[in-house]
Amino acid sequence: MADIIVLGGSAGEHIAIKLAEILGVELGFIEVKKFPDGETYIRVHSDISGKRVIYVNSLQRGPNELIIETLYTLDTLKDLGASEIHAVIPYMAYARQDERFNPGEVVSILSLAKLFKALDLDGIYTIDMHLHRITKPEKVFGSKFYNLTGVRELAKYVKKHHSIENTVVIGPDEEAEQWAKTMAEELGGLEYSILEKKRLTAEEVVIEAKGVDVRDKNVVIVDDIISTGGTIVESIKALRKLGAKDIIVTTVHPILVGRALPKLLRLGLKDLVGTDTVLSPISKVSIAPAIAIVLKKRLGL
Ligand code: R5P
Repeated sequence: MADIIVLGGSAGEHIAIKLAEILGVELGFIEVKKFPDGETYIRVHSDISGKRVIYVNSLQRGPNELIIETLYTLDTLKDLGASEIHAVIPYMAYARQDERFNPGEVVSILSLAKLFKALDLDGIYTIDMHLHRITKPEKVFGSKFYNLTGVRELAKYVKKHHSIENTVVIGPDEEAEQWAKTMAEELGGLEYSILEKKRLTAEEVVIEAKGVDVRDKNVVIVDDIISTGGTIVESIKALRKLGAKDIIVTTVHPILVGRALPKLLRLGLKDLVGTDTVLSPISKVSIAPAIAIVLKKRLGL
């Protein structure tokens, strides 16, 4: 398809490369660097005039900088004559600030969505975005909106690398039920349960495992994000108290701030795996195949 080109931003190039390969389309190049005063310089080196452009950039590992880079680039693509613009944002920043939890707070995701809306894109494709309070993302972001999941790709990895005999899938809180269900289905119909989580501070949570039976069973934990690691560390402790055997931890977005990774590595897990929506030492699973499935349909490939 000569009229389609994939471009990656500074936090999306690794996915853009794989996506172009899977789709069998051209891979272009965007230069991003800093001016001496800290402002961002961006130059699209590929000819995109008249082409359908797939632009990939993840908004984590410096979200504020990446938002500017992404919005400026998307705006310029239109200016350079792209016939369609499909924005793949594997990690959507600020999705958890989706309510005015305290008086006067910025509802960051709504402000960000307004900026995307102004660009009038042909599609936004994101992965396991925290969409708990935004029920109509198409309306808020002003374009076709696809919230895809990375859990199936994680399940393929688990199946390929581990035995799933005598295994139960656990989601660490109520919101994770959707991911636990998908993981359990993809692993051939395993049982799944969720734990109860109460968040005390940004780093501290209390986890209870009422009525969860994991005695002498292996466990696959699945959550959308590991940020400070608090949720997963407390979940593991609770599951071990209940007699769980081998534990595999899977996450879509391995943000892993501060000492989250060493904290988790000390726990003697059977495996700890994330996707590459956010690049990290545990990003062993590519998200590109999940994105490619939808783009193929959307672009008629
Ligand atoms: C919360 O709603 C998410 O699903 C994750 O459980 C949470 O973001 C993980 O954060 P942390 O690793 O800091 O506990």
